[in-house]
Amino acid sequence: MPDTLIDHHLSETMKADLAKCCLPRHQAWSLPPQFYTDEGLAKHEYNRIFRRQWLCLGRADQLPDEGDYICLDFAGQALILIRDKGGDIRAFANTCRHRGARLLNGSGRVAGIRCPFHSWAYKLDGSLAGAPDMDKASGFCKADFGLISYHVSTYLGFVFVCLAEDAPDFALAMVDFADIHAPWPMETLVSKRSRDFKVDCNWKTFIEVFNEYYHLPFVHPDSIDDVYHKPDAGNDVGGYFATQFGSTEGTGGLLQTTQQNPLPLMPGLTGREASGVRYTWLFPNLTFAIGVDAMWIYEAYPLASSRCLVRQTACFPPETITADNFDDKVQAYYHRLDAALDEDIPALVNQQAGLTQPDARQGRFQPELEPNVASFASWYADQMLRTN
Ligand code: FES
Ligand SMILES: [Fe+2]
Repeated sequence: MPDTLIDHHLSETMKADLAKCCLPRHQAWSLPPQFYTDEGLAKHEYNRIFRRQWLCLGRADQLPDEGDYICLDFAGQALILIRDKGGDIRAFANTCRHRGARLLNGSGRVAGIRCPFHSWAYKLDGSLAGAPDMDKASGFCKADFGLISYHVSTYLGFVFVCLAEDAPDFALAMVDFADIHAPWPMETLVSKRSRDFKVDCNWKTFIEVFNEYYHLPFVHPDSIDDVYHKPDAGNDVGGYFATQFGSTEGTGGLLQTTQQNPLPLMPGLTGREASGVRYTWLFPNLTFAIGVDAMWIYEAYPLASSRCLVRQTACFPPETITADNFDDKVQAYYHRLDAALDEDIPALVNQQAGLTQPDARQGRFQPELEPNVASFASWYADQMLRTN
């Protein structure tokens, strides 16, 4: 695939600053502020990370039936995720092979993909099925003009896509992910409410704030701070993710003031996992919390260096969803997600305003309360510093 985004050359100072992010957690520095604000570096990031690595793009059950599709626009790319006739999820570039028109918008269900411009028609597997009057073009062969497709993998209910021609080994990215999350019935969780919104901050800060306990008493003093005990140390993992478990007072899925009416425990949860939340960041841009009764997910997609599209999804075990009083009880869970966000978003917009200052500097992490953020900074710096 041709690289259409111009690669950025990092200065020696920038490389030295990034190297400080790769130090052990107790010594590590945060990412240089320019990586949250500079459009040129954002393009470099798109090339180095979004066009090379496996990206987790949500849950497979969000495309339940044949022909269900969703369009995703981020990092200078336009993708279509669609479920084919055989039940597999496919990922295509949202561009016609005739003269490039965008093919689909939003989400929905189609029997095939028909270009709105000159009506070239593609099957759900991306092959070109019809091209009006193109038999007059000498040597034209439909088999040569299928949609540009990308690698797709589904794992424990999540959908992963890699835009690179040669995808890195998926197993290496996920080493020990399944083991660490084995206590929860992750694969069978069902996606319920999902909603999209835009935030005026860099996509990384959005995921960072979700992954750290440090801000809880200052940003969420009356909503969720009392729910969270001091967390365990962040896990040392081998894959492209960071994760940290912490015990809770009641459920992390509810506000401290609305704990009276919780949903049932997820099937099979015992021991410490039956009273806590695991916060996991699947690098680069999906994070989730999985607790005693629910999993809530945030995907943050870069639109520009200072703006991102966020998708929030709440998931529950099938046994919980089919219980009589689920629709009533779940409202308090949605309210908790929204109330915390209403407190986080102004903090993020404020952080972006400060990061944009020319004299903004790299900082240090609180190692017990921000280990996931430190792990991501290290991984990210490593990706940006790669010479191949
Ligand atoms: S651009 Fe799609 S059919 Fe012409
Ligand atoms: Fe928060």
